[in-house]
Amino acid sequence: MRVLISAGPTREHLDPVRYLSNGSSGKMGYALAAAAAQRGWEVNLVSGPVTLEAPAGVTLTAVVSAQEMYDACRSRFSACDAFIAVAAVADFRPKFRFDHKETKAETDSVLELEPTVDILKSLGQQRRDSQVLVGFAAETGDLEQKAPAKLIAKGCDWIVGNDISAPGVGMEADANFVTLWNRAGRVGSFGPMPKSEIADWLLDQIFGQA
Ligand code: CTP
Repeated sequence: MRVLISAGPTREHLDPVRYLSNGSSGKMGYALAAAAAQRGWEVNLVSGPVTLEAPAGVTLTAVVSAQEMYDACRSRFSACDAFIAVAAVADFRPKFRFDHKETKAETDSVLELEPTVDILKSLGQQRRDSQVLVGFAAETGDLEQKAPAKLIAKGCDWIVGNDISAPGVGMEADANFVTLWNRAGRVGSFGPMPKSEIADWLLDQIFGQA
């Protein structure tokens, strides 16, 4: 079993020191990578900038931007049996990037943005039927509608929804509460539990008990 996992945030630089990003800690993606490696699977983890160590037995590719994450995932995609997209990818990047630290005088108060590539959706269009695609949907409301809609829109087999507005769970926390859907509908919920336990539960549900 060869699994590819994207994790963490991406950074979209305006200049060498400033960037757009989000508060993803990478903990959920790294917990899934650790749980998959513990099952003896070959694990490729493509990660945006986080402060976590690569789990034992996991091959880590460190990236910064959405484009770099896409390039790293795409080149590893055809060799994987499953792709789990946990990364909180920035949806937009600055249209212009300064190669030097932008001065106040040079700065426009309106920031022009352009969309980044949707990694999961793009790979969902390039997939083989035998590959398993798993997406994540971190929402601040309407999870029961938004998560299954994303499953269809992105060409996934499974989607993991979590409500990041609930106290003590979500992007930067050590715990999570997740709800899982597949193409047939809602599978179940689990948590709040440490992300390591959530990871094992998700792998059991999606790939069968270890
Ligand atoms: N995703 C991705 N590439 C992107 C944006 C999202 O691979 N450029 C993946 C995420 O890793 C996640 C899933 O798509 O598995 C859903 O991400 P989310 O940010 O919730 O969805 P968006 O498509 O960005 O939708 P919106 O922000 O409008 O809710």
